[in-house]
Amino acid sequence: MRQSLVAGNWKMNGNREDSSTLLEGILAGMADIKAEVAVCPPAILVPLAVEKLAGSSVKVGGQNLDYHVSGAYTGEISGPMLKDAGCDYVIIGHSERREYYGDTDELVARKFEAAQEHGLVPILCVGESLEEREGGTTEAVVERQLDAVLEQHGIEAFKNAVIAYEPVWAIGTGKTATPEQAQEVHKFIRDKLAALDAAVAEGCRLLYGGSMKPDNAAELISQPDIDGGLIGGASLKAEDFLGICAAAS
Ligand code: PGA
Repeated sequence: MRQSLVAGNWKMNGNREDSSTLLEGILAGMADIKAEVAVCPPAILVPLAVEKLAGSSVKVGGQNLDYHVSGAYTGEISGPMLKDAGCDYVIIGHSERREYYGDTDELVARKFEAAQEHGLVPILCVGESLEEREGGTTEAVVERQLDAVLEQHGIEAFKNAVIAYEPVWAIGTGKTATPEQAQEVHKFIRDKLAALDAAVAEGCRLLYGGSMKPDNAAELISQPDIDGGLIGGASLKAEDFLGICAAAS
């Protein structure tokens, strides 16, 4: 049985004060949560999150990394730095990174490898744009994004990785994929992994992301191949985030 995972992607939001309130709110509601829970704050707030969450089951993740270990890469943060700060997870290849910061499939594959090399579990994001969905290329796009990692690192790399299917048209738009639409792509992803290694496919957690809210989470997560969520907007309010965590429990 795969334990469901709910990860909050705070994106570029928060300061020490409101993040402290948010983290305290999450901690206060964790008693009945059976899902694994993680928060991915902006890097500068990672130490605060690690400190506040110490002794709890809530994990911390980064939102991105540079694949180099250290050196003259102004403005970047490496895997060993995230690990040293107390992260367990790192989001890789989020569509906003792909769209605004030039994270190509190749770069995403290098970052994925760097994450694992330094003891972080990558949450690999894949997903199509509205244009691609309407053009009927959803599966081809998702397959290309997965292949970029599979061809470099093999199916074994997915023994310790999470995949988040996030249709770009659903991110931050309030337009959630229907449970059927999401399940269809999740099944496609799982079948693709299963064709290479059935056990790895069975164990790999596949999250849905894109306007997941407390009122649509249960229906999405009850789909056979949806093992939780990567939550943007709704992860910034403790009550909403906990509502999703409860739906995944
Ligand atoms: P959203 O973002 O929940 O605000 O749609 C999801 C994500 O980008 O990970």
